[in-house]
Amino acid sequence: MTIKDAMKQRHMVRKYTDKPIPVDLVEKLNARIAENNCGHGLNLSLVTGNSDGLGSVAKLLLSKTVNNYIILAGYDTADLDEKLGYCGADMILYAQTLGLNTWWVGGMFNAKGARKNMTVVDTRINGIIAIGYGQTQGVPHKSKTAAEISRYNGETPQWFINGVEALLLAPTALNKQAFMVRGNGNQVTLTCDSGHFAGVDLGIGKYHFEIGAGKENFEWA
Ligand SMILES: Cc1cc2nc3c(=O)[nH]c(=O)nc-3n(C[C@H](O)[C@H](O)[C@H](O)COP(=O)(O)O)c2cc1C
Repeated sequence: MTIKDAMKQRHMVRKYTDKPIPVDLVEKLNARIAENNCGHGLNLSLVTGNSDGLGSVAKLLLSKTVNNYIILAGYDTADLDEKLGYCGADMILYAQTLGLNTWWVGGMFNAKGARKNMTVVDTRINGIIAIGYGQTQGVPHKSKTAAEISRYNGETPQWFINGVEALLLAPTALNKQAFMVRGNGNQVTLTCDSGHFAGVDLGIGKYHFEIGAGKENFEWA
């Protein structure tokens, strides 16, 4: 399964089986995390065997079965949220290609609990991604239309159409899809107006658009 296939097959999954993530897949996930950390100056880390990073409300009301998660953390720079969104998107889609399911938890997480499992200090934790073998594969989210979130100046090229299609598959906080993507020649801008989650959603959206459109076809303006 490619990352592109994974975009179509990935859906939020909150309930997991008790099957542990096999050692070889843990190694693959850790290698991908190391690439993201190195390339973007982040401190993502995989935690297995506890649910310390999930908030108590989420545990009580939504899922008692989370047993592994990725901590979304990094030094508190102005672009931290966007980078966490971009690299988190890479991780959820990569996990999907390995046959795993995920749940982005950007509101109902427990930063203190997560931090107990981290060695690096001085970072800001802004969410976790629960990961494991889902009890189901989830369902596609309700979606806006391409016309609602995009504008292209002139005749719309196929790569832009593909990018918007991929953008609509992106997970967003509260499924807001508060995106506006504009194209002019090969220049593209993406904005996201989802309040507290705008930075993270923007990073996730950029990752999805790039995979759909093909990075070679356009430039972020
Ligand atoms: C930044 C962000 C924060 C999120 N926070 C939560 C959360 O706190 N609790 C929750 O149940 N789901 C949370 N979600 C999951 C979204 O509700 C879910 O991704 C969205 O409804 C779209 O569904 P999909 O992931 O199946 O595409 C969050 C998603 C994102 C991207």
